[in-house]
Amino acid sequence: MPEVASIRSNDVIPEKPRSKKPGAEKHGAEKHGAEKRGQDKPRPKTEQKEKKSTDKSVIEARRALHAIENYSFRTPLLVLTIVLLILWGFIARPEEYLTAEDGLGYALGIIGGTMMLLLLLYPVRKKIMVGKYLGTVPGWFKFHMFCGVFGPIAVLYHSNFSLGSLNSTVALMCMIVVATSGLFGRYFYSKIHYGLYGRKASLDELRGIIESEEHQLAAAYKLIPDIAETLKDFHRQASMQVSVGESFKRFFSLGFKLRVASLTLPGELRVALRAHGQKAGWSEKQTNKNYRILKKHIRSLLHSVIKTCEFSVYERLFSLWHLFHFPLFIMLVISGIVHVLAVHMY
Ligand code: HEM
Repeated sequence: MPEVASIRSNDVIPEKPRSKKPGAEKHGAEKHGAEKRGQDKPRPKTEQKEKKSTDKSVIEARRALHAIENYSFRTPLLVLTIVLLILWGFIARPEEYLTAEDGLGYALGIIGGTMMLLLLLYPVRKKIMVGKYLGTVPGWFKFHMFCGVFGPIAVLYHSNFSLGSLNSTVALMCMIVVATSGLFGRYFYSKIHYGLYGRKASLDELRGIIESEEHQLAAAYKLIPDIAETLKDFHRQASMQVSVGESFKRFFSLGFKLRVASLTLPGELRVALRAHGQKAGWSEKQTNKNYRILKKHIRSLLHSVIKTCEFSVYERLFSLWHLFHFPLFIMLVISGIVHVLAVHMY
C-alpha cells in the first residue's frame, strides 16, 4: 500500500511552469510523458520543443480552468440589478413618468439607440485587428455586453414598457429578441472559453489536463480503487468518439452523473482515506491533508471531464447561435431605421 509520502510526492504539477536547468528532474505530466516514451532514447529537438509547448499550454489551461472555478458575486449582483430595473419600470408603467416623444423619455431612446450602435465596435475591433491602441478584445467584449444589456433597458424605459404603433412594436420586439439571443450567446461562449474573457479552450488541452490529473492521482488510486474505477470510467466515456446525437445524449446523461459524482465522491474519499489512515497509522492531520490534496485533484479531474463532455455540444450550439444572431441583428437595424424615420415624419 502506498503511504502518505507517495500521495504527496505525486502532487507535483507546479502552479507556475518552473524554469528547468539542464538535467533537472522533470515534474508531473512532463515526467510522465518522458517515462512513457523511454528516458534513454534521445528525442529529436523539434519533438522536444513541441512537447514543452504542449505541457506549457496544458499547465496554463489547467490554471485558467481553476481560476474560473472561483465563484464571484459580481454576476448574480448584476443580474439582480437588471431584473429589478426591468421589474420596477414595468410596475411603474401606469404612472407614465416618461413619454417617448419628449424630455427624459426621448433622451433615453437616443441613449439606448446610440449604445446599440456603439456595441458594434466589438465585432469590428475583433475582426479588423486594428491594433492594441484601440483597447483589448476582452475589454471591447465587456463594453459590447454592457451596451447590449443597458441600451435595450434604456429603450424599454423610452417606450414606457408599452407597445405603440406597428413600426415601434416591430423594432421593440426585434430588440428584445436580439438582446435575449445575446444572453444565450454569452452562455455558450463562456462554455467554450476559459471564462468569459479567457482564451478559447480546446479538446486536446482539456484531455491533457485530465491525463495530468490522472497521473497525479496514480499512486493514490491504489488506496481508493472504487473511486478510481468510477473516475476512469467517466474519462473513458467522455473521450469516446460519438455521433452528434450521441454527444447531446451524453451531454445530459454523463453530465448529470458527473455533477452527482462531484457532490458524492468527496464523502466517499473521506471514508476511504479514514479507513486506510487507521490501518496505516496516519495521524488525523495527515489524513486531512491527504484528503484535501486528493479532493483538489479529483475535483479538477471531474471538472475537466465535464468540460470535455460538454465542449463539442456547446461548440455546435455556439456556431448555430451565430447563424441566427446575425440575421436577427440585421432585422433590428432595419426595424430601428424604419422606426426612427417613421416617428420623425408624422
Ligand atoms: C441589442 C443588443 C445587441 C446587439 C445588436 C448585438 C449584436 C451583436 C453582433 C452584431 C455580434 C457579432 C455577430 C457575429 O460575429 O456573427 C454580436 C456578438 C456577440 N454578442 Fe451581441 N448584441 C447585442 C446584445 C448582446 C448581449 C446582451 C450579450 C450578452 C450579455 C451579447 C453577447 C454577444 C456574444 C457572446 C457575441 C459573440 C462574441 C464572439 O463570437 O466573439 N450581445 N452581438
